[in-house]
Amino acid sequence: MGNTDRPPPRDLLDAATLRQIGLSAATLQRTHPVYHHIFRALECAVTNGAFQPGSRLPAERRLAIALIVSRATVVKAYRELEARGLARGYVGRGTFVSAAPDLSGAPFAWRGKVAAAALRTTDTVLRDLVRDASDPALLSAGGGVPALEKFPVDAFRRSLDRVLRREGHLAWGQSPTQGLPALREAVARRFGGQPENVLILAGAQQGIDLLARCLVEPGDTVVIDRPGYLGAIHTFRAAGARLVGWDVVRHDLDELEDLLVRYRPKLIYTNPTFQNPTGWTMPIRLRRGFLELAGRLRVPIIEDNTYHELWFGAEPPPALHSLDTRSVVIHLSSFSKVLAPGLRLGWLSAAEPIVEQLALIKQSADPHAPNLMQSIVADLIDEGTFDRHLIELRLEHRRRRDALAAALERHGASGYLQWTQPDGGLYLWCRLPPRVNSATVMKRALADSVSVVHGQPFYADHAGDRELRLCFSSVPIGRAEDLARRLLRAIAAVRRETGASPPLMAIV
Ligand SMILES: Cc1ncc(COP(=O)(O)O)c(C=O)c1O
Repeated sequence: MGNTDRPPPRDLLDAATLRQIGLSAATLQRTHPVYHHIFRALECAVTNGAFQPGSRLPAERRLAIALIVSRATVVKAYRELEARGLARGYVGRGTFVSAAPDLSGAPFAWRGKVAAAALRTTDTVLRDLVRDASDPALLSAGGGVPALEKFPVDAFRRSLDRVLRREGHLAWGQSPTQGLPALREAVARRFGGQPENVLILAGAQQGIDLLARCLVEPGDTVVIDRPGYLGAIHTFRAAGARLVGWDVVRHDLDELEDLLVRYRPKLIYTNPTFQNPTGWTMPIRLRRGFLELAGRLRVPIIEDNTYHELWFGAEPPPALHSLDTRSVVIHLSSFSKVLAPGLRLGWLSAAEPIVEQLALIKQSADPHAPNLMQSIVADLIDEGTFDRHLIELRLEHRRRRDALAAALERHGASGYLQWTQPDGGLYLWCRLPPRVNSATVMKRALADSVSVVHGQPFYADHAGDRELRLCFSSVPIGRAEDLARRLLRAIAAVRRETGASPPLMAIV
């Protein structure tokens, strides 16, 4: 038996992996810059499919030893792959091949023209979610949507009439990038703060994007909830940030302190109330400790508080923002979950100079939010519709949560599916049995016209393959039974296919 058939020592790459890359220490060109030759070989291996999307590239150190180059040279080659959108690095887990956008069918050589930073954006998850949530052929527990059947249509119509009568001329013109004064004032009155600290947004997602563009440079570290909001993961990643997860299920402040000291992050992004996806709410003592820590180590916090108003058990503790005495918190929120996502309106609240800087960045993509919608929402807040609607929405959401949980129980899910029982927000966070992959379940469910979201996009480090998010608020009570039946059928099919042990074991 030849030497190559023996498993290589721990630090060495096997010959097959080197063949996949099409390189060896002997064949690597040593002309300057060496990293570029490694990058080219890797690029070729990725684009010709020798490394499939999702597969892990060799560890930097092992490849460096195999090619007899410094580790820094390999790191540079990997960074180049990342910059071209061909791979992604995850702290502590390695570098993985991305699903590259397919521009090959374009009528012109567009692929060569697309900026390297734009090629970094390969994730389709958010786009697919909003598409599926609006597909009438699907029974959707996928996208995060409130009970839209309860939207106050009549009050909205009356408000539209009032606005047009009162200030119709305002609706058709231009307006300040920071937002219409009437809406900034209404937001400040209803949610606290001063109008000059409010920036009106086309949804909270725009706020995350603006903050990433304002605060994050490629290579900066961002600490983010683990699991956490997938749109934030997507946006910070596209900005070139290295993401480090803080485990919100364990919510250990010592762990957070270790991460802050070790990685010196540019910022922390957290969703502390009825968190997306877990439904977890940070208790008041932890909020104080969290603020103290971030203040002491001078790390800004982006508090995404999109779900704060959506309690139907006990009212949640005050926002981090309202407990903040050192101005370390930027507060983000939205009308998407409390009125409707189709309005495309949100806001952030921060120190005035930050608001002004963000407005300068915002002007280049979105000079101002639509005036008519801003005026109507201000009016709905001022004349009380907004708060009356919230009361009804909370009741309906509780009913929908209970209906979906009861339907899952009735269909016998409790033996092989665990889920949370949140006191607010929009989601049940579910856990599947070992070896039942949630992405496969999601695909199966979609084939049966049901949309749910698998766990992986909520993790910056590729975990979550047994977790699943169900948006209970978008499922009318009369459809809960159908959804539970079809979802559980999908799970059962995947269990059969994977030979996951039958039935019904407790899940750890
Ligand atoms: C935590 C969080 N932030 C922001 C958003 C984006 O909301 P918007 O529709 O306001 O852009 C969502 C939507 O799901 C969310 O869950």
